[in-house]
Amino acid sequence: MAQFPLSEFQKRPTPFYYYDLGVLDETLKAINEGIGQSPYHVHYALKANANPALLTPIVAAGLGADCVSVGEIKVALNAGFPADKIFFAGVGKSDSEIDFALDAHIGCFNVESLPELKLIAEMASNKSIIANVALRVNPNIDAHTHHYITTGLEENKFGIALEMLDDAISVCLRQPNIRLCGLHFHIGSQITYMEPYRILCERVAQLMKKYSAQGIRFDIINVGGGLGIDYDDPDSQLIPKFKEFFDIFRNNLNLAPEQQLHFELGRSVAAQCGSLITRVLYVKEGVGKKFIIVDAGMTDLIRPALYGAHHKIENLTSDSSLTDEYDVVGPICESSDCFGKDEILPVTHRGDILALRSAGAYGEVMAMGYNMRPIPASVVS
Ligand code: LLP
Repeated sequence: MAQFPLSEFQKRPTPFYYYDLGVLDETLKAINEGIGQSPYHVHYALKANANPALLTPIVAAGLGADCVSVGEIKVALNAGFPADKIFFAGVGKSDSEIDFALDAHIGCFNVESLPELKLIAEMASNKSIIANVALRVNPNIDAHTHHYITTGLEENKFGIALEMLDDAISVCLRQPNIRLCGLHFHIGSQITYMEPYRILCERVAQLMKKYSAQGIRFDIINVGGGLGIDYDDPDSQLIPKFKEFFDIFRNNLNLAPEQQLHFELGRSVAAQCGSLITRVLYVKEGVGKKFIIVDAGMTDLIRPALYGAHHKIENLTSDSSLTDEYDVVGPICESSDCFGKDEILPVTHRGDILALRSAGAYGEVMAMGYNMRPIPASVVS
């Protein structure tokens, strides 16, 4: 069971994000144990959570950084990620972002289109430098996750379609200021069963075979992120199954001796160490139901409103052995501002403190100021 410093919580204004760095450390240890001696490198996807308190142990564990904006690259550099371990992904890198990333000598650009490739080549040539590039391939694989967070289908905006990959590769080979170092894939997020990854291995192996017959070798194969976590019962799987995940690749993808396999994990690194801590403002009787109205809202944690996601709700202060059924809602003027319907919780009162679990990824980073609300603070221990 997760341990919360409750007396500390009671002194603080709510809502706030709480991060348990002990859980994060265990998670990072499990990643490195899962990798073992394999030539695997994990780049942490900062988009999941760029809080510096989390980045420090992530840097110390030896992970690189997967960034999608100059803002993230700057945060990564400040946190101490070595520039050559920073990869820059994203379908719409602006000119000024490319300029900054070239000057910072980041490790690699994950390029998503021919026009972007040509722009990077031109800007690198103007600076007389060579840019490392991995081509993001859209492998047309259904990750069977929420349609807002699936990315590897032809209908999605991401990556270079398989039919256009030959063209993109020959542009790379013709450009003296581009060094083609790899292929990049990412099929989606919150993937909870491994079959889509096995299919991805097949696709990657086919491509490696096709291009090695033409004498083209990729130093890096980057298979993206997406490993899911258990939102319903976080305590039963506080540390995601990294070994099982890496084993899929070990068992299904043969690398040449000099090749590296890269991963971009976000959620599975950061989610389980974080909770959104909130106070009960009112318990309100409705018609045929009871509402717990809390001081956190969709502005602090948007995942339930945006994806219909559910974060386990725990009452940390009620000592009642009696339970009741409640809808747990926030104060925002939107009906979608609801964290849980028909939740069975201990009998709850004004002033009780609730934890919305598994909120360390895509929580704080997605907070916003709608209704002129402040962005929640964060507390670590
Ligand atoms: N690499 C690329 C290219 C990505 O687009 C993403 C996530 C990742 C890596 C990291 O994926 P992860 O290991 O975290 O699944 N806001 C949504 C999730 C959006 C994911 C976007 N891309 C949510 O709250 O569920």
